[in-house]
This record gives sequence, structure tokens and C-alpha cells, in this order.
Amino acid sequence: MYDDDRIRQRCRWPQWHDRLRSAEQAAALIEDGMTVGMSGFTRAGEAKAVPLALAERAARDPLSITLMTGASLGNDLDRLLTEANVLARRMPFQVDTTLRRAINDGRVMFMDQHLSETVELLRNHQLADLDVAVVEACAITEDGGIVPTTSVGNSASYALLADRVIVELNLAAPAELEGMHDIFVPAMRPTRPPIPVVAPDSRIGTTAIPVDPSRIAAIVVTEGQDSPSTVLPPDADTARIAEHLIGFFADEVEAGRLTPSLLPLQAGIGSMANAVMCGLAEGPFEHLTMYSEVLQDSTFDLLDAGKLDFASGCSITLSEACGERVWPRLAEYRDRLVLRPQELSNHPGIVRRLGVIAVNTALEADIYGNVNSTHVNGSKMMNGIGGSGDFARNAQLSVFVTKSVAKGGDLSSFVPFASHVDHTEHDVDILVSEHGLADLRGLAPRERAEVIIERCADPRYRPALRDYFARACARGGHTPHCLESALSWHVAAQRDGHMRSLIEQVEPRSA
Ligand code: COA
Repeated sequence: MYDDDRIRQRCRWPQWHDRLRSAEQAAALIEDGMTVGMSGFTRAGEAKAVPLALAERAARDPLSITLMTGASLGNDLDRLLTEANVLARRMPFQVDTTLRRAINDGRVMFMDQHLSETVELLRNHQLADLDVAVVEACAITEDGGIVPTTSVGNSASYALLADRVIVELNLAAPAELEGMHDIFVPAMRPTRPPIPVVAPDSRIGTTAIPVDPSRIAAIVVTEGQDSPSTVLPPDADTARIAEHLIGFFADEVEAGRLTPSLLPLQAGIGSMANAVMCGLAEGPFEHLTMYSEVLQDSTFDLLDAGKLDFASGCSITLSEACGERVWPRLAEYRDRLVLRPQELSNHPGIVRRLGVIAVNTALEADIYGNVNSTHVNGSKMMNGIGGSGDFARNAQLSVFVTKSVAKGGDLSSFVPFASHVDHTEHDVDILVSEHGLADLRGLAPRERAEVIIERCADPRYRPALRDYFARACARGGHTPHCLESALSWHVAAQRDGHMRSLIEQVEPRSA
């Protein structure tokens, strides 16, 4: 079906012809009960044909597997695999509505992991060994090395650790991607030498995954596209959040704690963090760098604006409009981009070494600064912790942003007690909402509560938060709480679908 010459241009390994298989033939290598590692990180660079063939096969011939990826998959694959009941266990991250429902109904067992950690657990046999890896490639080198496409994610370790490797050679992926990857797999512990990334632009590895070609069980040729990202453009609230943060950075420069090039920036997934990064294009900063996970539209806006000198990430996920601008000109960005395995892009030691400024999004935060990024009302999984914990705990400045309210004001994002904690108060330096910024550095819990309530919470919910805090302080404690009502806001949300009763309860008293 595909012209041999086209394949030969991308596949320089001479024996490729023997391994050429259809997606259905390759999917047949995956058996019921297996553990499978697939490429794909935030809708970028996922294996496209084999998972689809697997879902189609499962409709006729049921099977279920443990599926590990880098992060979320595009092309609706998580939905299709869920609908075909292929997923028994899934890790380490997802964003799909159908899969989310199956997770929350208890039909799919989801392991929500720090994204830097999955392959470390795998390498040390703390997770089931991988039977098969399925990795998308834009080229195969002379000696069988796999050149990934738009994400590296966990692909390198999956390909190196699995019993068998299926390569999806994507002829539509830009050939210019070759050379942008920096593949490095840390040595085994406890004798691991230091990982020599000392700056965002350090290159320490190879441009292809060095797989012994005898382990390549199948090569499937494809031409599928990545799905575009779904980030929304900045709105009035996210623009205000960006303004507060940029004002804070400017003050830090003024105080001599940062220089105008700040420190390497990390921006989390989602519309909010993307909007904040877009805001930097207008700020008084120059020669910025990124040491991040997903490179989103904002990365390319900053590169094009001449504000950003270099970006290190593990995937590129762009909106359709940004993609139309960037993909044809990819070669122009070559010297200013590197894609690494997520184990390195999110490596706690490197994040700490570089002094990264981490900007991630909270679902909710409590008055002491504990952050919930994952669980609505403490129980329903949204997406997963992703890389936010890798960065937040180790960053020089750990920032969490959120709108002060969700669901049109029905829910306050600032609550007495977080219903689930992903990032403890120890890992949160700065909280920002559209109303203002709370600088929590050096503050004790009682001081933190005052600035969070007065600077970040929605003014309509402030009286109720003040009321709770006053009642808790009357009881005493280093981190004062009234345990019997600490989760009353979430109880109201669960019971009524909103927290507005909290506003109504306090307003008459405070009037
Ligand atoms: N209670 C209930 N739902 C809430 C909420 C709250 N306190 N705050 C937000 N939400 C809902 C929103 O209403 C929205 O729902 P919808 O999709 O039905 O409209 C959804 O959460 C997403 O919120 P949004 O305001 O659009 O923000 P976002 O797109 O920036 O996503 C997170 C926010 C927290 C879900 C997302 O950033 C995330 O998954 N973070 C964890 C992983 C992470 O940080 N990775 C980055 C590491 S590099």
C-alpha cells in the first residue's frame, strides 16, 4: 500500500522489509492480559494504527490489557479503547471523558503517577514487566534506532524494556523532527552517576532510541496526524492571572531575587497555564528559557516574539492554528528546541538544580495552601497529577494558578480544607487567581490563610472563609481546623450541586 521508496527515505535500517506488518498483524502480537507500553504524551506522538486495530479486534474477540503511555493519547484512542473494554488497568495520566467515566465507575483501574516516575518503577520491577512496546517513529536509523515523533514521553524506556517492540513508522510526521530529540536513560540505582543536564539546552544523549533491531517485531507504516490541542485562548480572568504573575516576577527582578531572564520556566497543561505563558510575551523579560514538559502554543508564541531563547520539553502539542504556523517551519526552531524522555524533562534532581519556576493549575486550594489538582469533591478523578508534583516540590518557585470560582461561580476554588491533596502546603510558594496573588513564602499557616482569603478567594466567598478561619482559630492549633465542618463546602456541592448556600449563610451575619 505504501511506496517502498517513501518507506526507504524514512527507514534506513536495511532489513525493514522483513518486519513490515499491517496494523492488524502487529496488534495480534498483543494478547489478553499483557502489559503494553505505548508512545504518546498529551495528544502528541501516540501510536495510532495499532491501538485502533486492537480496539477493533476486541469488539470481535474480547481482550483486556494494562496500558501505560507517556500521558494522554490523541485521536480519541483512550475513548475507543475504553469503549472496546480493552483497558483493565491504565497509567500514568489521561484526559478523556469516556475513560474518566470508566475510571470513576471503577471499571478501569487507573494509577495516577508522577510522570517522571513510571519508568523508574518499571525498571525496578515494581510494576508488571512490559510484554510489548508500541512506539511511533518519524525515522528508523541505519542500525535500527527509533527516532520518535512529536513526543518522547516514556517511549525510550518502553522500547528498551519490553520483550517485543512494534514501531509505527509515520510517513506524515515531519522529517525535520530528526535531530530534535535527546534520548538519555539513567543508569540503574544505586550506582547511578549524576545526570549531566546543567542547562535547558544541555544535550546529553542520542537522537534516536538505541534499540537492538532484533527486538523489533513489526514495523507498521502509517500517515496519521496528531490531534490538535484543545486549549482555549486566554480570557479576561486568565489574562488577569497572567498580569498578577508578571507583576510578581517584575517585583522579584526589582528585589534582585531574579534577573530579567527569570529562571527556566515550566508551564503545566491546560488553558490557564498556557494563558499565563502567553502573557509573558508582553512582559519586560528577555532571553527566557523553558525547562518544561509539554511545549504548547505559548512556547512558540514566545519563541516567535524573540522572548524565549530555548525550550526543553518532552512533547509538542499545538492548536490547529498554531500547528499550521509551526509545522511547515519546524526547521527554523531546530536549534532552540529539544525533546527529552519525560523522566528527564520532569526529573526532580534537574528541576532542583536548574531552579525552575513551575506554573501549574489547581482545581482547588485550601486556606493554608494545600492544592488539589486531580479529584473533584475528593473522589472523582479529573485527569491526574501529571508532572505537576515532579515540578512543584522541586522548583525554586512553585506557583499554582486557578480561577477563584468554577462552574459560573457555583463552586469556590478556595475552600476551608482541600478535599484531596496533591501538593501539600510545603510545595506551594505562590497562589494566583484573577483577584490577586498570595505570596506564601516564609509564612506560617495562620498567616497564609489571611493572604489566601484576602488576595485570591472570590469576594462573595470571603466572608464564609473568614468565618470558618475565625472559628478554627478560636479552637487553636498550628493549622487551625473545625474538623466537623472542614468539608462542609464539598458536602454542599455534592448535595446541592453548588456552594452558594455558604455565601447565603454568612452574608446576613457579616452585614
Ligand atoms: N471543582 C470542580 N470542578 C472544577 C473546579 C473545582 N474547584 N475547578 C475547575 N473545575 C473544572 C472546570 O469547570 C472544568 O470543567 P469542564 O471541563 O467540565 O468545563 C475543568 O475542571 C477544567 O478546568 P479549567 O478551568 O478549564 O482549567 P484547565 O483546562 O487549565 O485544567 C486542571 C485544570 C487542574 C484540570 C488541569 O490543569 C490538570 O489536569 N492539572 C493536573 C495535571 C497537571 O498539572 N499537569 C501539568 C504538569 S506539567
